[in-house]
Amino acid sequence: MSAPRPAAVIVLAAGEGTRMKSDIPKVLHTIGGRSLLGHAIDAARGTQPQHLAVVVRHQRDVVAAHIEQFESGATIADQDEIKGTGRAAECALDVLPADLSGTVLVTYGDVPLLATQTLVDLTSAHEAGGNAVTVLTAEVENPTGYGRILRDESGSVAGIIEHKDALAAREAGDAKLAHALDIREINSGIYAFDAIVLRESLAKVTTDNAQGEKYLTDVLALARAAGGRVEAHTITDLWQTEGVNDKVQLAAMGRELNRRVVAQAMRDGAIVIDPATTFVDVDVSIGRDTVVQPNTQLRGATTIGARCEIGPDTTLVDTEVADDASVVRTQANLATIGAGASVGPFSYLRPGTELGAKGKIGGFVETKNAQIGDGAKVPHLTYCGDAVIGEGANIGAGTIFANYDGVNKHTTHVGAHSFVGSDSVLIAPVTIAPGAYVAAGSAVDGDVEAGQMAVARGRQRNIDGWVERRRAGTKTADAARDVAHASPRAAAGEAASTSVDEESSADEGITK
Ligand code: UD1
Ligand code: CA
Repeated sequence: MSAPRPAAVIVLAAGEGTRMKSDIPKVLHTIGGRSLLGHAIDAARGTQPQHLAVVVRHQRDVVAAHIEQFESGATIADQDEIKGTGRAAECALDVLPADLSGTVLVTYGDVPLLATQTLVDLTSAHEAGGNAVTVLTAEVENPTGYGRILRDESGSVAGIIEHKDALAAREAGDAKLAHALDIREINSGIYAFDAIVLRESLAKVTTDNAQGEKYLTDVLALARAAGGRVEAHTITDLWQTEGVNDKVQLAAMGRELNRRVVAQAMRDGAIVIDPATTFVDVDVSIGRDTVVQPNTQLRGATTIGARCEIGPDTTLVDTEVADDASVVRTQANLATIGAGASVGPFSYLRPGTELGAKGKIGGFVETKNAQIGDGAKVPHLTYCGDAVIGEGANIGAGTIFANYDGVNKHTTHVGAHSFVGSDSVLIAPVTIAPGAYVAAGSAVDGDVEAGQMAVARGRQRNIDGWVERRRAGTKTADAARDVAHASPRAAAGEAASTSVDEESSADEGITK
């Protein structure tokens, strides 16, 4: 049997959330890389409703813009100055078709762990029972603050009484409601309604209660009085109905969401060494047999292939990693890492970094807007910004891609299988053709053609007898004299480096 599609889901998000003590609207705080409201909308749209309405009021424009961006198919309903969940639902019905019929679900924008499956089950139970209202309830240890489920002698749901009204009833000595505060079955605030019953009942709901609000909860007793069937659908996974009211709860819900996401990643085939220190956003995917080491954060739209090694101590944001790659102690943002490539330890990949298959970005290397070809290597201590590096090229240790002239950024091209010696500066814009060499220690500002070797540095000169003349009496001078006694030729400066040989100079300082 296919899942029933509700006529509409109404997500309530007009409340102020004063206990968050925040300038950011409560429902826009995030856990798992998604806003609380985003989680609520995602659960709602999973039921494939014909209409999805979100009720807003507090910081209306900011919240509405976020809704538009997250789910453009959602209808925004503005709540007026009349307070209460009942009024909120009524304002949503006002922007939905007047002839709406069938099942209407109501959920909250600040309840992030509610699953689509729970809403599907609620809808199924509601429709199978031919109910006017089905309320999602839970049995809790401490029901303080919640609306309590009232049942009649036969055990049927008779209505809901709010905590504050139960208190008032007890103080007023109301014998019938004296026990209400002891009831541990609570209203989650999530319901399935028959659309017509909801509309007709809300028209009758008053603000005659302890809070002076129009309560959605009053619809239950009204529906029953009108002859409708009202039932409870109980959930045991209490996290799913838990709302966020302050930042302590925000952290607790975030931790629990992360536990669930990481557990799902493992069920899908990832190997997570320490789930407690692994943080994975809800949109991340991790391939089979990829090992995630401790202290790793996978954020945003990051995707990781199969058989990778990720972490420890790694943060990847909106980064794509292909199969069999290794990314160790790395920070990466908007980067792509090719199959079998190796990154880290201590690498910083900034937006636009594209490392080819089997390529390497090594220790203390920062990259930005850099295409590094298949099998190309940037192994040590390099800044590589605005670069296009061909396949198989090797960038020596300490190379700097000087991409900024103080006003504009420029690109450096290094062709396939070219070789840049250590400690070079490539001053952009500059092009090194495929199959070329740059001697170590060069400052290159002119193009280098295929087959050429560029040498752009001062030639070495050795000044004979300098130590004896200028540092007489030091240990260095003593050492020089000792060598002179042992080997007069060496002391006279006849070592290979006296005459600079064009052929051998390129070999100096090559690192592998
Ligand atoms: C409500 C229920 C209570 C239930 C509890 C579960 C009512 C009268 N009470 O209580 O039975 O146990 O939720 O958490 O419904 N909202 C609006 N407009 C408003 C008021 C609230 O959109 O005018 C939204 C809030 O943004 C929030 C949700 O409705 O997402 C619940 O509001 P809240 O004030 O937390 O409800 P409670 O009074 O705690
Ligand atoms: Ca609440």
